[in-house]
Amino acid sequence: MTSHTLNELIAEGVRGRYILVRSDLNVPLDGSTVTDDGRIKASLPVIEKLSDAGARVLVTAHLGRPKGSPEAKYSLKPAVARLAELAPFKVQLAEDTVGESAKELAGSLGDGDVLVLENVRFDARETSKDDAERGAFADELVALTGDNGAFVDDAFGAVHRKHASVYDVATRLPSYQGDLVHTEVEVLRKLTTDTQRPYVVVLGGSKVSDKLAVIDNLLGKADTILVGGGMLFTFLAAAGHKVAGSLLEADQIPVVQDYLKRASDAGTAFVIPTDVVVASRFAADAEHEVVAADAIEDSSFGASGIGLDIGPVSAAAFAEQIKAAQTVFWNGPMGVFEFEAFSGGTRAIAQALTETPAFTVVGGGDSAAAVRTLGFEDSQFGHISTGGGASLEYLEGKDLPGLSVLDR
Ligand code: 3PG
Repeated sequence: MTSHTLNELIAEGVRGRYILVRSDLNVPLDGSTVTDDGRIKASLPVIEKLSDAGARVLVTAHLGRPKGSPEAKYSLKPAVARLAELAPFKVQLAEDTVGESAKELAGSLGDGDVLVLENVRFDARETSKDDAERGAFADELVALTGDNGAFVDDAFGAVHRKHASVYDVATRLPSYQGDLVHTEVEVLRKLTTDTQRPYVVVLGGSKVSDKLAVIDNLLGKADTILVGGGMLFTFLAAAGHKVAGSLLEADQIPVVQDYLKRASDAGTAFVIPTDVVVASRFAADAEHEVVAADAIEDSSFGASGIGLDIGPVSAAAFAEQIKAAQTVFWNGPMGVFEFEAFSGGTRAIAQALTETPAFTVVGGGDSAAAVRTLGFEDSQFGHISTGGGASLEYLEGKDLPGLSVLDR
């Protein structure tokens, strides 16, 4: 089964037609400032291609997780302002999603014009578990496209969501895969089929519970899994070490122990840090020191010390593994990279990814934001995925509703 592509749609002719495009404009904000515009830049080419071809483009997107009604802090305004700065065409934002403003502005679009509808999650039906509710919302979105509309899904970051603007609209309109979704899928396929070895996976981030399914699926597929971030403390605890006041998911210890046991049979090696940076408290200016990973409670901060980064010896060892790899997938920062004192591990991984001959994929909003915050350029990596949960769920081998609905 294959999906129809954006090029096929353009070849059919889009001039004067209303084309509904789902984009992922879910960007991090500091007040009304976009702090990482990676997803906006990644969404621009498809919108531009359609605008250039004379389509009347209606963009749907979400931002954050509002509870089904409008909330100013989740408005798409800052994201659309940034899109407008980058775009060579005029971009308008409707004040609502399927209300009067959306209808009026959509009705006045000329060929090549672009209208972004306000956050689709301001309507509770977008994320409803009830098919009929989602369907009713999808009908209203589809109605904006008149009688010759089409749908392009370019929101890779949201393809794992069975939401009205991702899934249900695709069952109602002729639907096409956007170029970003296409590229992301091609790249992730290289991580699951005919993967060049050694295949090294670097996993970080705060919670091990978010990564269990992907770890399970990687056992036997990855040669090495390097463990960092907050989740490393659950691994240390599973290996019998005390972790003082560090983040710990005690209920996951047996699961991690089971993975450690199964890993060697499956031919996958877990590498857990041998040193960590321990701080007196969770703050940018906290006192801190490097200690052995099996002696965290022996730091000057005793039982109240908090591990906030992998240590330099581990960072160097991880970097060596990355440089000897042929394929590397990285998801999740190694430490609290937002604080300079605890950014060393994440920086070392990013640096190693830029120096390895391996095909490198950075997956996940946090890791993508981390590399940009630390001053690296997107072009230094093989691919920076726009998908966080979506790329993980792809690697977990799950069915992604936003992708399978496009297959026919
Ligand atoms: C993401 O940030 O990973 C995507 O935009 C999806 O957002 P969600 O996890 O809130 O559905």
